[in-house]
Amino acid sequence: MNPRHLTLHQLRIFLAVAQHGSFARAAEALHLAPPTLSLQVKQLADTVGQPLVEQIGRRIYLTAAGQALAQAAADVDERLRRLAEDVAALRGIEKGSVRLAILTTVKYVVPKLLGSFAAAHPGIEVAMVVGNRGALLQRLAANQDDLYILGQPPDDWDVVCEPFADNPLVLVAPPGHPLARERAIDPRRLAGEPFILREPGSGTRATMQRFFDALGVPLRARLEVGSNEAIKQTVAGGLGLAVLSAHTVGAELALGELVQLDVQGFPLLRQWHIVYPRGKRLSPAAAAFKDWLFAHRDPAVAPAAHPVPAAARRARGRSAAPASTARSGATPPPPPHPPA
Ligand code: PGA
Repeated sequence: MNPRHLTLHQLRIFLAVAQHGSFARAAEALHLAPPTLSLQVKQLADTVGQPLVEQIGRRIYLTAAGQALAQAAADVDERLRRLAEDVAALRGIEKGSVRLAILTTVKYVVPKLLGSFAAAHPGIEVAMVVGNRGALLQRLAANQDDLYILGQPPDDWDVVCEPFADNPLVLVAPPGHPLARERAIDPRRLAGEPFILREPGSGTRATMQRFFDALGVPLRARLEVGSNEAIKQTVAGGLGLAVLSAHTVGAELALGELVQLDVQGFPLLRQWHIVYPRGKRLSPAAAAFKDWLFAHRDPAVAPAAHPVPAAARRARGRSAAPASTARSGATPPPPPHPPA
C-alpha cells in the first residue's frame, strides 16, 4: 500500500467508523450521507489492499488491517490536535479546547464550576461527556479526552491520578422505613431487603457489591436502574433501598424525600480523581482547567479535609491506593480491564 494515497478526510471517516462501530452512526456523527461514507471506506480499503471491516449482523467489526489503520488515524488526529494547541499556546492559554469526561456522580459537582471557568476564559471551549466507570475507562484507554474525573483507575494503568474530592456512598431508604430510626444497624440485617442497583460497569455498584460480598451478605436485587436520578425516585416510591453517592442525594435528604440509614461501615468512602494518561502532554487550556478545578472545588469535599478512619479505608477498597500514582513511561494506558 502507498500511504501517500490516503487522505486525511478518509482517515477521519474511518476513525469515526471504528469509534461508533457502525456506518450509520459514524455518518450521522460526521453529517455525511451513508453512501458517501461507505464509498470512502471502500476506497480506503482499495488503497490499503485489504478488507478493513467485517459486518456481522448490524455491527461492524474491524479486521486486523482495520485496527492498525484506526490506530494510525487516532495518532494522526491526536497529533493534529496538539498542533492546533501548540499554535494556540503561542497566543497564550486563552484559546483552545478541553475535552472532559466525568462520572455520573461527578455531574452533581463539577458542571457548576464550568460556568465560572467559561466566564473567566471565554476563548476556551469545554466539551464534557458523562458516563459510568466502565465507559470512562474505555474512553481513557482510547485516549479520547484530555481529563477524566473518576474513582481509582486500575493499579497497573500508566496514568497520572490526582485525588480531587471525597465521594462518600450512603445507604438510602424511603421515609418511614422500619430501620430509619435505628442506629448502628448491623449490615447483615439488610440481607432480605430489596435493593435498587446501578447498572453493571458502575463504580458505585461495584463498591457496594464488594462491601456486602466481604461480609457474606447476599444482596436481593429488585431492580437494576442506570441512572442515579431514577434510582432516587424508585427508592422514594418505596421499591427498595439503594447505595448512592452522597453528592447525588443532598437535596432529597434535606427535603425528607429520602432517609439515610445508619448502617455500620457506611458511608463507604471513595474518592474522585483527576486522571489522564501519563504520556499525555496537557494543552495549556487543559492545564488551566485542571488548576481551576482544584482551586475552585468546595473545600468541604477536598480529600485532605477529612482524615479517613481505618474501617472506612478498608471499605473504600481500591480507592485506598496512594494519593498519586507515580509510574514511569510515556505510553497511554493499556486496553480496558473489566470495570471494578
Ligand atoms: P459510577 O461512579 O457509579 O457512575 O460508575 C461512581 C464511582 O466510580 O465512584
